[in-house]
Amino acid sequence: MELLRFITCGSVDDGKSTLIGRLLYESKLLYADHLAALEADSKRVGTRGGELDFALLVDGLAAEREQGITIDVAYRFFATEARRFIVADTPGHEQYTRNMVTGASTADAAVILLDARKGVLSQTRRHARIVSLLGIRHVALAVNKLDLLGYSREAFGRVCFEFTEFAADLGFAEITCVPMSATEGVNVVGHSELTPWYDGKTLLQWLETVVVDAEEDGPSRFLVQWVNRPDATFRGFSGRVLRGTLRQGDEVRVLPGGRKSTVDRIVTMDGDLLEAPTGSSVTVVLADDVDASRGDVLAFAADPPGVADAFQAHLVWLNENGLLPGRQYLAKIGARTVGFTATKALQLNEIGVDSVHFDTPVPFESYRTNRDLGSFVVLDRLTNATVGAGMIDCALRSANLRWQTLTVDKQARIARNGHRPCVVWLTGLSGAGKSTIADLVEKALHADGRHTFLLDGDNVRHGLNSDLGFSDADRVENIRRIAEVAALMVDAGLIVLVSFISPFRAERTLARELVGENEFCEVFVDTPLEVAERRDPKGLYARARRGELANFTGIDSPYEPPENPEVRLDTTALSPEQAAEVVVARLRALGVC
Ligand code: ADX
Repeated sequence: MELLRFITCGSVDDGKSTLIGRLLYESKLLYADHLAALEADSKRVGTRGGELDFALLVDGLAAEREQGITIDVAYRFFATEARRFIVADTPGHEQYTRNMVTGASTADAAVILLDARKGVLSQTRRHARIVSLLGIRHVALAVNKLDLLGYSREAFGRVCFEFTEFAADLGFAEITCVPMSATEGVNVVGHSELTPWYDGKTLLQWLETVVVDAEEDGPSRFLVQWVNRPDATFRGFSGRVLRGTLRQGDEVRVLPGGRKSTVDRIVTMDGDLLEAPTGSSVTVVLADDVDASRGDVLAFAADPPGVADAFQAHLVWLNENGLLPGRQYLAKIGARTVGFTATKALQLNEIGVDSVHFDTPVPFESYRTNRDLGSFVVLDRLTNATVGAGMIDCALRSANLRWQTLTVDKQARIARNGHRPCVVWLTGLSGAGKSTIADLVEKALHADGRHTFLLDGDNVRHGLNSDLGFSDADRVENIRRIAEVAALMVDAGLIVLVSFISPFRAERTLARELVGENEFCEVFVDTPLEVAERRDPKGLYARARRGELANFTGIDSPYEPPENPEVRLDTTALSPEQAAEVVVARLRALGVC
């Protein structure tokens, strides 16, 4: 029997739980013991004066019962004679966009619920936008609580008109408006005499008949999840057919590399298959000795997906810490994790269109064509927490940019200079002593015949970075540019001294990765805030305390100290000269000078 996955979305108190409870109840899928519990609960904590309170059936989570809010996506299963259903019940609170994205990403249809008395709220619009964004094309608008408006046909008509007008640009194939009372059971399953003017589908009738868009069509795409190599005689690629049908004898391309081969065998536990339909998990053996690894895509050779590393994408931001342009995140797309950056800021729950960059080209399709190869989640690099979700609209450039091989390279410069290059990255509060120490280190290295350069925050902010201030976003961009410049200078063969507050771990990590572990030496100029503030060489702390300087590091802007710096300098115990000597000694030990 056909399966329909759908999502319900509504604001708090719109009656969503009651609606789902009633669907479960009326479709007779309630077990006797559930029913007994429901009766007991309804009497004890119900809001219906002892009558069956269907909301209690769904609000199964203890916390929710106590606080009256739903706290996570709950998937519920029910069936009628016509269809089987999986409903993702997602909470209505604004901060739970994340759950809605999770629920909607696998759904075929959406029921958007609203309170007829309140009409179309900003929440309703935002639900509709997310539903559209996630590619759901079939929507029912459940205009609930109509009992409280005396089943007014006009009120219903008004809400429908407002919603359909608003949603005209959202790309829905269909919007069905249903006048409803979930508590009274009006037009949920059967028609009611209370709305004699309505002869459209009831909600359940709609759910039973809504057309499910098939992903079966189209050229085949097979996602490699692991390489199955039990011994030297067998090598297969295990994974899932995302789309289309994979057939024995098909010519396929292995992406992102692009090499061609032919499907020799389709292996399963129950023997070989001639073809594998959408959704099946199989092991593919190729005719040639072509390499593929986790995250690669085997695609129908005549019509493969594109490969790119820069995209226009819709992003939904799901973290309290907003998206910072230029900050390095991770993106998980298909079965592959790659480096990720975006160009525009987004706040929690904000949806935007952005240019995004991956650090590796990936096989992709637009989200509209293929949800699997067109969507990604964004992860924090340090905590691995999911902080955003993205839907690819299109590639911004194909992989046209290539690295040019240059004859005079870093090795040639090392041979000429007689020493290795490296970055000495000094981080610490304003007034910690970074620039003084960096200057002394450079003086010593220079006297010793080394090729050096000093990048200093205050100086670089006069030129290259004169467009940047001290917001979090500007500091991220400040350090990103300096990390790039320092990496270039290492290629130029120099010992680069970098003296920037560089308050964020993420960007210091980026610098380390850009330059390379072996050529990066992080120096934490560890001066406690009280000491730096007492020194206050430029009088900036005093101004910040008087409220004349906003976003001052240590006062109203954070500093994240390094966790494992190569060198830590305690400036309360060392003079600047002694501190510089410690750094030089460390560079000798590292073999840089
Ligand atoms: S960073 O945070 O982006 O790395 P950077 O090292 O470039 O900062 O610049 C810090 C210098 O800018 C400080 O030494 C100080 O002289 C000056 N400055 C001016 N305003 C601020 C501020 N709000 N926070 C920190 N430094 C500031």
